[in-house]
Amino acid sequence: MIDEQASRTAVLVCQGRAVGDGRLAVGRFADPVAVQLLRDDERAEVASARAGEVPSGWRARMRYEMLNATAAVLVTRTVAIDDAVREAGNPQLVVLGAGLDARAWRMAELAGTVVFEVDHPASQGDKRARAEGLAAVAKSVGFVPVDFGRDALGPALAAAGHDPAVATTWIWEGVLPYLTNAQVESTLAVVAERSAVGSRLVATYPVHNRVAVLGRRALRVFSRLTGGKDPLEHERHISAWTPEQMGALLSGYGLTITADRDLHDIVRELGISARESRFYGLGRIAVADHTE
Ligand SMILES: C[S@@+](CC[C@H](N)C(=O)[O-])C[C@H]1O[C@@H](n2cnc3c(N)ncnc32)[C@H](O)[C@@H]1O
Repeated sequence: MIDEQASRTAVLVCQGRAVGDGRLAVGRFADPVAVQLLRDDERAEVASARAGEVPSGWRARMRYEMLNATAAVLVTRTVAIDDAVREAGNPQLVVLGAGLDARAWRMAELAGTVVFEVDHPASQGDKRARAEGLAAVAKSVGFVPVDFGRDALGPALAAAGHDPAVATTWIWEGVLPYLTNAQVESTLAVVAERSAVGSRLVATYPVHNRVAVLGRRALRVFSRLTGGKDPLEHERHISAWTPEQMGALLSGYGLTITADRDLHDIVRELGISARESRFYGLGRIAVADHTE
């Protein structure tokens, strides 16, 4: 990420959740807070995508398609991650690269959980301004500004009150693609150090996938053609793993994968149309536990 620029991909994925709320995987997914975190112009785009009427102009139509495709991806990964968070039921939750994640504001199950949101300082400043006036439902929310490429995560978490002796669920949603291998390893070293027995890491990760590369190119072209900002301009995709590589990586940090699923399978289970998700290589979700 480029310093001092709030993440644009964080806004795009928040728009995706707002488009999906009440429309996709109803009964399994709900994020009524997402729309409240958006600015007026971003909300107007969401309203148009939610209206379900395909606009006639090609620019508006492309934007409409992009937001609907984003919604399919986001609803799917949100359901899978929420299930893993609930199942672990840990007293601490650290959201790495939190963006406009609304779990601390929408998941009633977090009423007894201390939440720490870690993010790039520019993205976090923007999030805090957007969330002003919203009441969290989690026990507490601490904001920990960290650039994974520059700042020390461990001391920042310690200063914010994270307790390494108490089990933690760590969420790494939609962040791994943007990190270098060195940033991934240094973050995992801190996760390992601060994970008491019972801790869990839930991570979405991209696989090597030609369709995904084309999808990202399409996203950038769409954004330019529709006169919008390219959400990937400052956040390039730089990493991808096979499930075997992910398993080996996490086991090196004392984390055993207990589930690793292709998000396409979850799309199908949720009854979300494949057409809506065709622009994206959805990637996978890994759940890894510290058990001994
Ligand atoms: C696609 S957004 C995902 C946000 C959120 N996890 C979600 O799924 O809604 C990527 C997030 O990674 C964060 N990020 C990317 N590079 C980072 C870095 N070097 N240090 C800290 N955060 C970073 C961005 O600030 C942004 O919030």
